[in-house]
Formats: sequence, structure tokens, C-alpha cells
Amino acid sequence: MKKDFLSITDLSKNEIIYLIDLATNLKEELISNGGNIPYLKNKTLTMIFEKPSLRTRVSFETAMTQLGGHAINLSPADIGIGERESVMDVAKVISSMTSIIMARVFRHSLVKELAKHSSVPVINGLSDLEHPCQILADLLTIYECKKKFHGLKITYFGDSENNISHSLALASGILGMNFTTASPKGYWMKKNIVKKAKELAEKTGGQIIETDDPKLAVTDADIIYTDTWVSMGDEKEKEKRLKIFQQYQVTSKLMSFAKKDAIFMHDMPAYRGNEVSSEVIDGKQSVVFQQAENRLHSQKALLIYLIK
Ligand code: NVA
Repeated sequence: MKKDFLSITDLSKNEIIYLIDLATNLKEELISNGGNIPYLKNKTLTMIFEKPSLRTRVSFETAMTQLGGHAINLSPADIGIGERESVMDVAKVISSMTSIIMARVFRHSLVKELAKHSSVPVINGLSDLEHPCQILADLLTIYECKKKFHGLKITYFGDSENNISHSLALASGILGMNFTTASPKGYWMKKNIVKKAKELAEKTGGQIIETDDPKLAVTDADIIYTDTWVSMGDEKEKEKRLKIFQQYQVTSKLMSFAKKDAIFMHDMPAYRGNEVSSEVIDGKQSVVFQQAENRLHSQKALLIYLIK
């Protein structure tokens, strides 16, 4: 049976550990040999984009090339998914010719519908609800920096009702990490995500906490994470959001309340002077470019795992 990757919860703890191990080996193989074994020879990835993309597009396409396969990019103008052609027809046609689909969409329901009608695996390359591919790369980065997951404290600042914080909360539940969000009221995580993350955390010894107090949230954190205050699709609210989130900017002062060896993470695109100061994102504790590069390595592991 095919396996989709629509939510980080589509992977168990053991599968996540396996993928991180595989990604680490693929990264080492690439660095030491200058290339990878063509594990995905003759395989094709179809990429569907409803929204702009830098890291997702470049990492998936490069991953397929370096693994001996091929990637096709379909922009909204190319296919008009759900308008020019139904989601079902698109899914069936693509499944009949290519090995796997990755889609970046506005509504999470669209990626679910694609998966329903597709006979090949579907990967969520970002929806309004989750961004599991980013979180897989983040977990690889966290493991490289901290050599463990269990018991780590991650504090997320800013807009918590978004794809990144949702996937982070769920991943924390799966791996037994302590996840805290600091956000203004009205921008907390979706209730069903919190419920699910807490259920997972109960089994693994993790914790899921929401607060509007930045200082309380950051105290003793191992990882400080933030994301844009204006996600793709939220542009109409930009002015309002830039005001509401002001006190949640990650600054050097805020970082000083975290652990001394804390790392700063951001999935990017980053807006210096809004959610993070330049001093922090371009400073010594920042691992944002390691995170970005790890998209390539972690998604190679994911592609091999889902296709094989
Ligand atoms: N929350 C952001 C993530 C960008 C990679 C967005 O959805 O725009």
C-alpha cells in the first residue's frame, strides 16, 4: 500500500529516527563522494505549486537529480488544479505516469483530496495547516546540534496558529520534547492540533504549553524558533499583524533568558526587524542555513522511503 506524508503524524517515532539516520548517511555520502548512489533512477517526482517557493522547490528538484531521478514543476498557470481540471483527474493522470507527488497548497483539504485519488504517494509541501517537510529538516538539524530529542525545550514565538507551529507541536508530542508557544491571544494553535499534540505527549513524556508571556516562555529553552508573522495567504492582515506581534520579536535580550547553548531556528523566508532582529538571525546561535540545507538531505530520505 502507498504511504502519504500529509502530516508529521504520518510518521511514527521510529520512522522519524530511521529517516534522520538515512538523511545523515545520504548527507555524508554526498559530501565525501561528491554525489549519491542513484537510488531513484527512472523515478519522477511531480511538484504542484499553488504558492511561491524557494527551499521546497530547489531542495526537491535537486534531491531527485542527485538521486538519479527527475522532477517536473507544475505552477498554477500550468494546470489550474481544481479549476481547469478536477483534483481527481489531475491525481489520476499524474499517478499513471510518475512515481510520487509533492504539492504546496492553500487549503489542507486539497492535499488530502489529491492523496485520496492518487495511486502514488503524496507529500504535503506546505498547506495552511502543516509543513511537515520543514519539520523533518528541523529535526535533522536539532539532532545534529543537540544529539537528542527527548526532554529538549523548544519555544516558538509569534503566529502560533500556523503550519510551522502546528507541525512542531505534533513532532514534539511524538518525540517527547517540551513545546511552548508565546503568542498574542487570538493567534494560538488550532484546538484540534493542541489536543492531538497533548495526547501524543502524554505517551512520550513531552509537554505542550501555550502562553502570551514571552519571558516565561523563553526561560531555559534549548531551541528558540520563529516564523513570519504574515504567512502566505494572510497578506490582507499584514498591517494588523505587524502591530499585534511586535512584542514577540526574537531579540538578543530575549535570547539571553534561554540556555547559554540555545540555538535559534527559522524556516524562512525571514523578515529581519519583524519576527527576528538581524543580530539574532545573523548571529552565532543561529542555525537557519543549516536548517535550509537540511531540507535537501531529509527529503532525499523521505523520497527514497516513500517510493521504495
Ligand atoms: N508559515 C509560512 C511558512 C513559509 C515556509 C507560510 O505559510 O507562509
